Amino acid sequence: MATRYEVVRCQLAQEPASWLITGVAGFIGSNLLEALLLLDQSVVGLDNFSTGYRRNLDEVRSSVSEKQWSRFRLIEGDIRNLDDCAAAVVGVDHVLHQAALGSVPRSVHDPLTTNDVNSGGFLKMLTVAKDAHVKSFTYAASSSTYGTSTELPKVEACIGAPLSPYAVTKLVNELYADVFSRVYGFDAIGLRYFNVFGRRQDPHGAYAAVIPLWTAALIQGTDVYINGDGETSRDFCFVDNAVQANILAATSDACARNQVYNVAVGDRTTLNQLFDGLQKALAACGFYSDQKPCYREFRVGDVRHSLASIAKAERLLGYSNPIRLPDGLLEAMRWYIARLVAMPPSDGALGSKFHITTHNPDNSTQPLAGR
Ligand SMILES: NC(=O)c1ccc[n+]([C@@H]2O[C@H](COP(=O)([O-])OP(=O)(O)OC[C@H]3O[C@@H](n4cnc5c(N)ncnc54)[C@H](O)[C@@H]3O)[C@@H](O)[C@H]2O)c1
Repeated sequence: MATRYEVVRCQLAQEPASWLITGVAGFIGSNLLEALLLLDQSVVGLDNFSTGYRRNLDEVRSSVSEKQWSRFRLIEGDIRNLDDCAAAVVGVDHVLHQAALGSVPRSVHDPLTTNDVNSGGFLKMLTVAKDAHVKSFTYAASSSTYGTSTELPKVEACIGAPLSPYAVTKLVNELYADVFSRVYGFDAIGLRYFNVFGRRQDPHGAYAAVIPLWTAALIQGTDVYINGDGETSRDFCFVDNAVQANILAATSDACARNQVYNVAVGDRTTLNQLFDGLQKALAACGFYSDQKPCYREFRVGDVRHSLASIAKAERLLGYSNPIRLPDGLLEAMRWYIARLVAMPPSDGALGSKFHITTHNPDNSTQPLAGR
């Protein structure tokens, strides 16, 4: 029997819709763009390139036909600017709101900007989308909302207190979405992503996520640091699963709206297992490394274990068969190797496409807890 995702993709290909992706030049946004253009959809992208890259858009361009690329229009603008937001939603059926400043440590260093973008920008996007009567509004929520809750697996109805300014902003998104449903009858859907990884996830900079950070270090032969004993665990989610969840959410029934959903796999992987898996995936792609990780102190505030229940997304959205860590890692490693290996490091620079900075041993910058 066909999955709901297969059915929806067929329907969209037959009756294309118009989409807005905010944060289109980022990691998840550019993967959404690629998936939608390959389905012959029309897409408007809004981005201010603060953490996204033109090269991500160039890469999408090279993976779709010229005709499909002609259906994409980029607005260089800022979600903190109401006019930019209003211009972006004109004629749009579905909004996939991804733009935000990610990273818990970034929010600890600069809570004001994180709040302006993640809370203020979200409210502006929600407002213009409501006023434009779009058919759906799906937004990137976060597993960080579980905060102090130690319950496993994480179920949507049971959250703790936020542990960072970033987590506050993502919780505020959910609160505003709920209030917009009650006050204006405008129903949004929040997708609580759990540690998403895959092609085009940025491996450099102080706020890089653990998989691209370690991958670049393994390829470069620089140190890989594990905070604590390595038995900390996460539910790592390949980016194609996030794409699936967004497309299903945007096209879901009314009864699935005004809800939040975990987007993950439902598998728990320790950091030690992740390191092993990374080396295996790299080896399967012909890149061998016998490097050992360096262990250091636990990072204060890191959640010890994270594991999602995906039952609600399966039941109400038809989310199914998420790609599991080993398969996702294989695909991701092919991508990183193709871009990083052939470019010999010189003073830390790996050529024009990527500029990999050596792993920063300051443990305050290694991102892991609830993104
Ligand atoms: N990657 C993860 O594991 C993860 C986990 C939980 C939640 N999320 C959320 O998913 C979304 C996408 O994350 P990502 O990993 O692709 O991050 P990313 O940094 O790669 O992408 C974010 C994009 O938003 C853009 N942006 C930032 N501020 C903007 C502004 N003021 N106006 C317009 N554009 C702006 C950036 O330039 C970038 O292209 C974010 O909302 C993030 O909080 C990600």
